[in-house]
Amino acid sequence: MSALPEQVTIYEVGPRDGLQNEKALVPTDVKAQFVRRLVAAGLPVVEATSFVHPKWVPQLADAAELMELLGDEGRDHPVLVPNERGLDRALELGMRHIAIFGSATETFAQANLNRSLDEQFAMFEPTVRRARDAGLDVRAYVSMCFGDPWEGAVPVEQVVGVGKRLFDLGASQLSLGDTIGVGTANQVTALVAAFGAAGMSTDQLALHFHDTYGQALANAHAGLQAGVTTFDASAGGLGGCPYAKSATGNLATEDLVWLLTGLGIEHGVDLDQLVATSAWMAEQLGRPSPSAVVRALSPGAAESAG
Ligand code: HMG
Ligand code: MG
Repeated sequence: MSALPEQVTIYEVGPRDGLQNEKALVPTDVKAQFVRRLVAAGLPVVEATSFVHPKWVPQLADAAELMELLGDEGRDHPVLVPNERGLDRALELGMRHIAIFGSATETFAQANLNRSLDEQFAMFEPTVRRARDAGLDVRAYVSMCFGDPWEGAVPVEQVVGVGKRLFDLGASQLSLGDTIGVGTANQVTALVAAFGAAGMSTDQLALHFHDTYGQALANAHAGLQAGVTTFDASAGGLGGCPYAKSATGNLATEDLVWLLTGLGIEHGVDLDQLVATSAWMAEQLGRPSPSAVVRALSPGAAESAG
C-alpha cells in the first residue's frame, strides 16, 4: 500500500450524472448556472451534459442549448458521447473533451446502449478514432465494475478485459464505475491492483462511485490508498442512471472534499461555495440534498427544500 497522494483531481459529474435521472425538467439556464457555479467553486473538471439520443435521456435533450448558453467556456467541459452521431453533434459545437461509456456486462450493454457487450466496441471504435483525429481528448467509462443488478457479481477479469479494451481505443483515462453502488473497499483495492497487473498505471484510472449502500466514501478512501488520484463525484450527491435498476446518487462532492481536507490532500475546491451551490440546486429540485455534509453545513436550505 502506497502513501496517500498529496493532490487529487475531482471530476465533477453533477450536471450530467446528477441531472440525467431527475424527474423534474431542469431549465437550461439553471443548468448553465449550475455549471458556472461549480467552476467558480474551484472544480477543475465539470462534465456538463450528454450527446446521447434525446429519447433515451430526455433530461439532457437540451445539450446544444446548454452549450450555446455556456459559450466558449462550454467547449472545455467534457460531454458523454456514445456513437458517431453524438460525436457529430459535439464536433459541430466545437467540444474539446468527450467521454465514451461502455459496460462490463452483457445485460447493461443491452439496457444502456442497445448493443451486446461485443457490439459496443464497434460503436465506440470509429467514434474514438474520429474524435482523436479531430484533436479531442477522450475519456472512457466502464460501468458495472463492482456488481450488476441483473447478473450479480462481475468477474474482475471481465472488468479488466472490457476496461482495457475501451482504454486502448485511444482514451486518456479510464473511469471505473460502481454504477449501482454495491462495491466495498476490498473490491476497490483488488480491482485497482488487477488493472495495474494488466499494465495500467493509477494515473490512467479514475474511480466513479454511487452511494446506494453508503460505501462510496469508504471506497474512495480505499482508492486513495491504492494510489488513484482522480475521483468522480456529484455536487450534493445527485445522480443515478435511468437504465440501471437501483442506481442512486453519486458520491457527493462535498463528502469527498470533507474527507480530502481532513486527510490533508489538496483538491482546490471552496467547500462553502460548493455547499451553497448544492443547497441552491436542492431548492431548484424541490428536495433536500442527499449529501451528509451539505445537510450538516446548510441545514436551513435542506429543510426549506424538503
Ligand atoms: P439506438 O436506438 O440503438 O440508436 O440507440 P441507433 O444507432 O440505432 O440510431 C437510431 C436513431 O437514433 C437514428 O435516427 C439515429 O440518428 C439516432 P433515425 O435515423 O432513426 O432518424 N441517434 C441519435 N440521435 C441523437 N444523438 C445520438 C444518437 N444516436 C443515434 N447520439 C444509443 C443507441 C447509444 C444512441 C442509445 O442507446 C443511447 O442514447 N443511450 C444512452 C443511454 C445513457 O445516456 N445512459 C446514461 C449514461 S451512462 C451512465 O450513467 C453510467 C456512468 O455514469 C458510469 C457509471 O455510473 O457506471 C457513465
Ligand atoms: Mg454514474
